[in-house]
Amino acid sequence: MFAVACNSGGVRRNPGKTYVPDMVYSQAYDAYTKGPVEGEPTSLKPVQGTIARGHALPTHLTKNDTTQYYALKSPYKFTEQELAQGKLHYDIHCGICHGQKLDGQGPLFTSGKFAAMPANLKGENYINMPEGKMYYAIMYGKNVMGSYASQLKEHERWKVIAYIKKVQSENGGAPFTMLAEAGSGSTAVAPAPATADTAKAPGTAH
Ligand code: HEC
Repeated sequence: MFAVACNSGGVRRNPGKTYVPDMVYSQAYDAYTKGPVEGEPTSLKPVQGTIARGHALPTHLTKNDTTQYYALKSPYKFTEQELAQGKLHYDIHCGICHGQKLDGQGPLFTSGKFAAMPANLKGENYINMPEGKMYYAIMYGKNVMGSYASQLKEHERWKVIAYIKKVQSENGGAPFTMLAEAGSGSTAVAPAPATADTAKAPGTAH
C-alpha cells in the first residue's frame, strides 16, 4: 500500500503563481517601519512614560500663552538635507492649502472646495512672521486652519518652519538663520547620551 502525494512524490520547489500580486506584495509603506521621509520611522509610539527623540519635552505653555509662544525661537539648526525633509513635510501637510510655492494658492483653495484664503506666506503680512508665531499656528491652528500638532513632531514642526523661513528669505524676507554649519551635525541640540539614568522614564520613583 502506498500513500500518494499530489505532486507525484517529488519535493515541490515551485512557489506557484501569484494571482493578485499587488495585494500579496504591499505597495504601501508598512506601519512601524520606514516612513515617507527618509530615515524617519512612522507610527512608532514612545514607550509609556518616556519621551521619544524628536518630541518636545513637557512644556508649561498653554494655548493662552501667546506672548511666550510668539517669542519662541527654533532650538534647532538644520542641514540642507533636513530642509529638504522640511519641504516634504510642508508639501504633505501644508501645500494643499498654502500652495507648493507658499503663495496661498494650494489646490484645495483654487479648486473652490475651501472657501477661506490660506495665508500667502510670501505676502507682506507673513513674510517676516516670527517663527514662534508660526509654531503657535501649527500647534493650535488659526481660525479655519486646524492644528497640525499631532501630525508633526516638535522637531518636524521646526523643520517645516525652517523650510518656510528659507523660502521667505529668498523672496524678500529676513536673512535665513536656521542653517546648520557644514559638518556640525544635524541639530544644535545634541541627543542625550543613553545612560542608565536618562533611559529611566521621567517621573518614576527612584
Ligand atoms: C486646510 C487648509 C490649511 C492647511 C492644510 C494649512 N493651513 Fe495654514 N492657514 C490656512 C488658512 C485658511 C489660514 C488663514 C487663517 C486666518 O488668518 O483666518 C492659515 C494661516 C496660517 C498661518 C498664519 C497664522 C497667523 O497667525 O496668522 C501660518 C503660519 C500657517 N497657516 C502655516 C501652516 C503650516 C505650517 C501648515 C502645515 C503644517 C498649514 N498652515 C496647513 C489654511 C491651512
